[in-house]
Amino acid sequence: MLGLKLPTDPRWVNIVEKNIEEILTDHAYCEQKAASTAISLIIGFPEKSELVQEMTALAREEMAHFKMVHDRIIARGWTLGRERKDAYVLQLMKFFPKGGSRNTHLVHKLLYAALIEARSCERFRLLSENIQDQELATFYRDLMVSEANHYTMFLAFARKYGNREEVDKKWQELLVYEATIMKDLGKKETIHG
Ligand SMILES: [Fe+2]
Ligand SMILES: [Fe+2]
Repeated sequence: MLGLKLPTDPRWVNIVEKNIEEILTDHAYCEQKAASTAISLIIGFPEKSELVQEMTALAREEMAHFKMVHDRIIARGWTLGRERKDAYVLQLMKFFPKGGSRNTHLVHKLLYAALIEARSCERFRLLSENIQDQELATFYRDLMVSEANHYTMFLAFARKYGNREEVDKKWQELLVYEATIMKDLGKKETIHG
């Protein structure tokens, strides 16, 4: 359903479970970055009214997710640590060549966002199904549903603002590239690591 070419090894959850503080810290920043991506799309493409409306709602939703994660960090007696680097996202964003028209840039940003949502959704599903901590299992099941909706929305916007055939071709190429990045991941206690 998500189109991902390479599933995460479920043993990733065993690594995560040993360091809940670390996964929650990384996750908190994933939600922050999702909110700032939504805001940057508003700033970059203010004339796309439908996009601006949806990104306004999304920024609020992602910040609400951030608060939910932060609340859990506090409840467990921890303090939010510094931002963790997201090697996965940095690698992913090297795929499309720089330059091109403003519209091409928009389509690429939307496709990256769709994929990050799809992979996050897959990781949340794994956590919800395999983590021992029942409170977190329920939490990740709810978030999984939200991220699946975001994935669908970003992909639909890419198809709306770009040429459908070209967008679908780029999406498939991006999925193949993402699978090559994922081969080396699934070994760290971060959402995309
Ligand atoms: Fe989120
Ligand atoms: Fe999201």
